[in-house]
Amino acid sequence: MLRLLAAGRTIQAGCFIGHSPGRIFNRRPSSVVPHVKDILRHSSKPRAFSHIMAFATTGGPVQFTPPSGAKWWSDATTAIVTGGNQGIGWEIARILSQQGIRTVLTSRDQKRGAEAVQRIKDISGDANIQSAQLELEKPKSVSAFAAWIKEKLPHVNILVNNAGMAYKGNTFGPEENRHTMNVNFFGTRALCEAILPLMEKGDRIVNVCSRAGLLSQLKSQALLDKFQAASTPDDITALANWWLEAVDNGTQAKQGFSNSMYGMSKLCEIAYTRVLAQQLASHGISVNAVCPGYVSTAMSSYKGTKHASEGADTPVWAALLLPNDVTGKFFAEREETSA
Ligand SMILES: NC(=O)c1ccc[n+]([C@@H]2O[C@H](COP(=O)([O-])OP(=O)(O)OC[C@H]3O[C@@H](n4cnc5c(N)ncnc54)[C@H](OP(=O)(O)O)[C@@H]3O)[C@@H](O)[C@H]2O)c1
Repeated sequence: MLRLLAAGRTIQAGCFIGHSPGRIFNRRPSSVVPHVKDILRHSSKPRAFSHIMAFATTGGPVQFTPPSGAKWWSDATTAIVTGGNQGIGWEIARILSQQGIRTVLTSRDQKRGAEAVQRIKDISGDANIQSAQLELEKPKSVSAFAAWIKEKLPHVNILVNNAGMAYKGNTFGPEENRHTMNVNFFGTRALCEAILPLMEKGDRIVNVCSRAGLLSQLKSQALLDKFQAASTPDDITALANWWLEAVDNGTQAKQGFSNSMYGMSKLCEIAYTRVLAQQLASHGISVNAVCPGYVSTAMSSYKGTKHASEGADTPVWAALLLPNDVTGKFFAEREETSA
């Protein structure tokens, strides 16, 4: 056991083997120290304590180790991870870069992006990683980022659409709904379309979604049928616009939509994953959705039961270990689950 003195209290971080048989991660004391230092460096004192408590309750970081012989990637492989300045995205970017993959993490704030890169370099030494600015809800930011990527990385092997947002508490309203949809669905769609020209056969898109986006939140069979029958990205956009209008005029409950802005945005993202996968199947580019689980990050106010590195496990698994001919699926804990 490793004893760490933090915020005046002692936290014990143990060596812990992942709970799921066949899963390829474990927690090691040697990987714990940088994470606690990281929390202390990047948090105000009161927040640092809650981060460390979350860290202690989740059991701390887990390590991703691919099975021997499973590697198709090399230092010529390239990856983009959106929302990589913190949380699950930072862990995904860290793991991919530690696998030798040339990785670009995006951040809304350039300074925080640069700091996130530095934190990975502090742990990994010669990691091939850099940051770039991206605000998903701004079309100009998406196109500027895509132009920058085209100049830097003419071929993108892996795109992990991790960036996302959710309002806290009971916040609900037309403006907040539009913002949630603009980031989680419309922004993700725009980024996929901007980056796809740089992808080719064998490449992978992983959309970090959520079980909050399940179809079962729809209360109308007609609506459910429409989502299930959607076959193009424009069909999903039309349904997303329908949801936006329903919230604008307060008829969402009457029409059978759920009352969750975040849930509907993730439902649209999962549905988009399915139809994009169908469109790209003949091009050999896989597109899958994943749920990271309930993870201790800013989004969950550090209440999640998984450490961010454990939340990164299924997204990284989908990006690296899932066979490329598996596409259009939704996974949680490395298992296919129904949307
Ligand atoms: N935590 C959970 O329990 C949980 C459960 C299910 C699914 N997820 C999903 O997992 C993904 C990562 O979430 P997390 O838990 O790691 O949350 P997080 O710590 O809040 O990180 C979210 C990331 O997305 C970025 N982002 C937010 N709005 C953006 C925008 N408009 N444009 C570009 N980037 C934006 C954030 O940037 P800033 O740092 O600048 O805000 C941050 O880098 C999300 O898609 C989330 O929906 C999380």
